[in-house]
Amino acid sequence: MKVLVAFSSRHGATQGIAERIAATLSAAGHDAAALPAQDAGDLDGYDAYVVGSAVYMFHWLKEATRFVRHNRTLLASRPVWLFSSGPLGTEATDAKGRDLLEASEAKEMAGFVEAIRPRGHAMFFGAYSPGAPVGLGERFVAMMPAARDAMPKGDFRDWDAIEAWAVSIAADLV
Ligand SMILES: Cc1cc2nc3c(=O)[nH]c(=O)nc-3n(C[C@H](O)[C@H](O)[C@H](O)COP(=O)(O)O)c2cc1C
Repeated sequence: MKVLVAFSSRHGATQGIAERIAATLSAAGHDAAALPAQDAGDLDGYDAYVVGSAVYMFHWLKEATRFVRHNRTLLASRPVWLFSSGPLGTEATDAKGRDLLEASEAKEMAGFVEAIRPRGHAMFFGAYSPGAPVGLGERFVAMMPAARDAMPKGDFRDWDAIEAWAVSIAADLV
């Protein structure tokens, strides 16, 4: 099957996840390519789609959001999986005791699920290293020592979970 893994990433963590998903799908015999959502071009030639974005301030990035909204009719008619990259740190729960992966869901996700009925949607731990802030939120964090120090720094991507998810997609597509 020809699979597009479209992603939106500010600092590369989500891009790395998308590339690992595409590599895992390819190793399983599919023809998969990871491309930035805004560069995906003509979508008609693909049999299935995986779409992912980093989550910032509880929202997907705008390129991936636009990709889903603009192509929702096509996506609703083909196999689709969605993923997000967000939570940082090694804790499984947040300060209120909620599952961190569930609590980090982007605000767009409920609408996406309703509109395109993806076969699955996953949230993965992300990565953060301060420096070269992009956008208002990151500049704010960079300028405020309390906010900056409160953000766990490092690469928390769970490659086993990412690969297991991609393997399940590969099997579903057979
Ligand atoms: C200013 C800022 C805001 C963030 N907001 C969220 C958020 O609301 N929810 C979340 O799960 N992660 C949040 N994160 C963590 C990022 O989603 C995480 O670092 C992600 O893996 C970055 O992906 P990218 O390198 O592809 O841009 C935030 C990070 C920064 C720096």
